[in-house]
Amino acid sequence: MPTQLKYSTTLAKNTDLAIIVQADKVASVEDLQKEEIAYVQQQVEKEAKIISLNRYSHHLYIVLAPEAKTQNLAQEALRQAGYTLLKQLKANKTEALAILDKTGTNASLYLAEGLYLSNYEFHKYKTKGIKPSSLQTITIADSNINEQTVKELQHVLEAVTLTRDLVNEPHNNQSATQFSENLEEIGREAGFKTEVLDELKIQTLKMGGLLAVNQGSEEPPTFTIMEWQPENAKNKKPYVLVGKGVVYDTGGLSLKPTPQSMDYMKSDMAGAAAVAGVMYAIAKNKLPLHVIALIPATDNRPGGNAYAPGDVLTMHNGMTVEVLNTDAEGRLILADALSFAQKYNPELVIDMATLTGAAARAVGKEGLVAMSNAGDDVMNSLKKFGEQVHERIVEFPLWDEYKKHIESEIADIKNIGGAEAGAISAGKFLECFTNYPWVHFDIAGVAYLLGEDSYRGKQATGSGVRLIYNYLSSLAN
Ligand code: BES
Ligand code: MN
Ligand code: ZN
Repeated sequence: MPTQLKYSTTLAKNTDLAIIVQADKVASVEDLQKEEIAYVQQQVEKEAKIISLNRYSHHLYIVLAPEAKTQNLAQEALRQAGYTLLKQLKANKTEALAILDKTGTNASLYLAEGLYLSNYEFHKYKTKGIKPSSLQTITIADSNINEQTVKELQHVLEAVTLTRDLVNEPHNNQSATQFSENLEEIGREAGFKTEVLDELKIQTLKMGGLLAVNQGSEEPPTFTIMEWQPENAKNKKPYVLVGKGVVYDTGGLSLKPTPQSMDYMKSDMAGAAAVAGVMYAIAKNKLPLHVIALIPATDNRPGGNAYAPGDVLTMHNGMTVEVLNTDAEGRLILADALSFAQKYNPELVIDMATLTGAAARAVGKEGLVAMSNAGDDVMNSLKKFGEQVHERIVEFPLWDEYKKHIESEIADIKNIGGAEAGAISAGKFLECFTNYPWVHFDIAGVAYLLGEDSYRGKQATGSGVRLIYNYLSSLAN
């Protein structure tokens, strides 16, 4: 059962409660008795951040409002406090928690977000020894936060959950076809349209990149189109999202060495999963915005008919590509989706992809790498939302000189660059298939974590969902 996020300003007396308050305002919290205030103040002296009071019928948790350099960082500290608080809730076997904010800054929303995201678990495949988290319900109890805001947040957090579930699903249970069925299921649930193009249709469309990557596979590719087109849409030209849906990346004939680099490559569809999460959130929240999402999906394997280094492909837009490394497959399937997107005359196209190890090496798990031709207004706005949700963006350039990195002797371009600037040569490659405002996100460093990182958890993080949802939501309002 996923965590429930609720809104209610009437609380039963014995409800477990978290109160967020500034350290110097503890004495003015009405709900506290004298001895409790003294105890809390004593703990504050000892630099405690969360102070637990056991009232026997229930627990009271005093969460000190974090001090930080900026409002965004203070909100991030609250999310992280949610992660710390959850450990105490689990220890106390708390099933339901209400949150009250005494700071007047809507702090409950951020604490709830951190709690909710930290409470995610993936134990679908555990047959024994599961100790599910006790926490099932989080109730925001502030009268100055409206119910609508909480509902919207609930849908976004559900979206992150479903993105994480898709990414954590092992490949032996998620072929391209199964993945597209999962996307259809999400569409039914959220109320957006889905259409799955099969191999024959993909051939008819001459998607040479997607077909080549699929050649070594036992399973057919899919191309899923999702669409949310409400009657009250504010935009004439649609926003188009594109997600890399490589359901498993062995590298193909340019095989990845195992164990180091192949073990977690079930996560190579994290861009596609994030796009699906965004579609879920915008449809559930009925954003007045016309949004289309495109998901090319296949696994990348060295099977009998596998495409090979040296091959020249003709892409959906007619360009030719010399393949010099079959492990640079993401850009090939995205290229076809990006040129397919041209037919929608889009306002803006945003792609998300676990595209390069180079992006991960450059900024680690602390940021998303972006490249764009869409101009400063779009990028500045995205960066602003990146700071707000703490999915921070590092912009890399698409300078003309990088075009040299992908020049081919025999075809229009080649699918790899040199030893340097690998994230950019991938971006530069994608740029060749766009003729509209476009932003590319390389999420290779953030999509899947091997160690636990606060409320992002370990394994799939759902990175990108909150960022793109908040950006699109700002365009709708
Ligand atoms: N899926 C990988 C990128 C990746 C690496 C994602 C590590 C997450 C973690 C991608 O398809 C890939 O293999 N990229 C190559 C490109 C190279 C061959 C030009 C890479 O980054 O090594
Ligand atoms: Mn690869
Ligand atoms: Zn890949």
